[in-house]
Amino acid sequence: MNKTIFITGAAKRIGKQIALTFKELGWNIIIHYNSSKKAADDLAAEINNSNANSAVTVQGNLDVKEDVEKIISEVLDAFPSIDLLINNASTFYPTPIDDISEDHWEKLIGSNLKGPMFLIKGLKQKLKESNGSIINITDTNLSKGVANYSIYSAAKAGLEAITKGLARELAPEIKVNAIAPGAMLEPPDVTWTEEQKNKVIDSIPLKRMGSEKDIAEAVKFLADSDYITGQIIKVDGGRSL
Ligand SMILES: NC(=O)c1ccc[n+]([C@@H]2O[C@H](COP(=O)([O-])OP(=O)(O)OC[C@H]3O[C@@H](n4cnc5c(N)ncnc54)[C@H](OP(=O)(O)O)[C@@H]3O)[C@@H](O)[C@H]2O)c1
Repeated sequence: MNKTIFITGAAKRIGKQIALTFKELGWNIIIHYNSSKKAADDLAAEINNSNANSAVTVQGNLDVKEDVEKIISEVLDAFPSIDLLINNASTFYPTPIDDISEDHWEKLIGSNLKGPMFLIKGLKQKLKESNGSIINITDTNLSKGVANYSIYSAAKAGLEAITKGLARELAPEIKVNAIAPGAMLEPPDVTWTEEQKNKVIDSIPLKRMGSEKDIAEAVKFLADSDYITGQIIKVDGGRSL
């Protein structure tokens, strides 16, 4: 029986690359999206073209309780097993302290922390049955503190805390790890100037931005590993050193 990976926020960018990497391995792929319906449908079509009936899409806003419940129910029905849950979806924008509102709190905590927590809760039984894995995608910059991103940072730090706590709580059946990317891609809808880009590259010992593939390869490595749990793997070219 083919294994199944469920990836949140998988229509584009890093989530999409994880989907394409696992397509090559012959896995079934559940592609979650919120607003990017066309990109998600196109990706599912591309995957199904290579491996028939191996990809489905599920839609939902992780800030909304009813949507999270709907996502869980559709994921449970999609394929016989769930072997790997990737909490990749994320909202990312600055919140300088004087501009912070309840709405910012709900959005940044909803997609980056609360949604992932309740997805794990809803899917854990099925993950247990397959001795599966959970990988939470966090952020390498947390360790240094990031001005103007306090809510996003709190959410990702919370996701790392959940990773460690649940690694103990869900063991020995389910492994729970996190991958903390460094500077991989420019934020969505932002184009850095050459000067901004060079400044970022200068701060990275390996002297290049990362790519979607660097994260997908780390996911593949963790999926293959039988003896790693509760770890935060930094994939950041050494930026956090
Ligand atoms: N890119 C980087 O350099 C970098 C650096 C550090 C950490 N990371 C982490 O790596 C992961 C992937 O990064 P990325 O840049 O590929 O992500 P992204 O493009 O910023 O976001 C991925 C997807 O998250 C979905 N999403 C956002 N809010 C949502 C909500 N409320 N409910 C459901 N889905 C929601 C969006 O789906 P729709 O488009 O369908 O709405 C979006 O396409 C993220 O967790 C990010 O924090 C990335």
